[in-house]
Amino acid sequence: MKYDFDQVCNRKNTDCLKWDMMEPIFGSGDLIPLWVADMDLPVAKPIIDALKKRVEHPFYGYSQAGTSVLNSVVERMKRKFNWNIKPEWIVFTPGVVPALHVAVRSLTHPGDEVILQEPTYHPFFPVVVNSGCKIVNNGLKMNNNRYEIDYKGLEEKFHSKSRSFQEAGRIKTIIFCNPHNPIGRLWKRDEIIKMGEIAINNGAVVISDEIHCEILFKDQKHTPFASISKKFEQNSIVCMSPSKTFNLAGLEVSTIIIPNKKLRDNFINTRYGIVPNPNVFGYIALEAAYNHGDEWLEQVLDYLQKNLDYLKQYLENKIPNIRVVDPEGTYLIWLDCRDLGMDNQTLSNFMKKKAKVGLEDGFIFGESGSGFMRMNIACSRSVLHEALNRIENAIDTL
Ligand SMILES: Cc1ncc(COP(=O)(O)O)c(C=O)c1O
Repeated sequence: MKYDFDQVCNRKNTDCLKWDMMEPIFGSGDLIPLWVADMDLPVAKPIIDALKKRVEHPFYGYSQAGTSVLNSVVERMKRKFNWNIKPEWIVFTPGVVPALHVAVRSLTHPGDEVILQEPTYHPFFPVVVNSGCKIVNNGLKMNNNRYEIDYKGLEEKFHSKSRSFQEAGRIKTIIFCNPHNPIGRLWKRDEIIKMGEIAINNGAVVISDEIHCEILFKDQKHTPFASISKKFEQNSIVCMSPSKTFNLAGLEVSTIIIPNKKLRDNFINTRYGIVPNPNVFGYIALEAAYNHGDEWLEQVLDYLQKNLDYLKQYLENKIPNIRVVDPEGTYLIWLDCRDLGMDNQTLSNFMKKKAKVGLEDGFIFGESGSGFMRMNIACSRSVLHEALNRIENAIDTL
């Protein structure tokens, strides 16, 4: 079936975070919202059909993933990533962020340290701090408009001479993001190996947030962290979900893959009574998406690629002082606005008050995000055009 993503859909008055919360979040309801990470593109028909069918069965009691749900995850990992997983490795949670909280708590004691690589997805900060741990930032390095992992910095974080006796060995985990939100890098196999070796050899378990692993631009291939080797498998917690790929965030279902039994038991004990299972509709949507969603996904990825090309062309031709940091994955585009010469607050106000476009401020992803903005391009092309037009016109008035 052919989907028409050019058709603009009205999401207002549907309890939609992105569209209905603009007033409290941006101070005005007339912005074009290109912020929170969901798509303004309607979901795949097989998912809607499966949900409708389940709604007709008038029992919505406690639910538990059955064999066919588990198999759909196992088969997808094999089909998409040639990764052989076992059904018993899978733990379902109603989101990746709650799973990250559980994972960090299961691996640390208060006072321990967790490595992040800024600029990074901002909810990672409370994940660490609210667990009573300290953030150790091993910031990404930018080289020729491309971000790279600072391996030397990572080694040093584990071995720093300046660290006190009490702090030595307190780094228990690293939250790795692949593809990396907000900068869109898809870390390649050799990069994952280099980073993973340093972390694991120094006693840190890698929590790998791979929620965006199926939103990839042309010719990109994702490698799950735990698929690298037995050693990587036994020292990692991989967080995946159909929520970004199939636009199901509101159905709250995530698959946390933990091959190591001890780590898995620890995770399950830590989440007990605090982070529940997903709801029944989440499982239904996941299974339909993984088994029957690929025709839709192919069309979405093609549409996103064209939106990216459109955005780059538009900026190059008409707004050359804003540049795209070339992404390999995610529909969240990291815009380098430093040539506008504005400080963080001025840039933020400029986008929301003058251009009337709702973007994410770069600085919320860490200090190194200063001068950047994050734009969600998963919308109809005419909406993207209108947003760019507004930014262009606002810049003309400067
Ligand atoms: C890297 C990353 N992790 C997690 C999430 C959110 O996960 P969830 O809604 O499943 O809690 C997002 C959403 O944008 C994300 O970008």
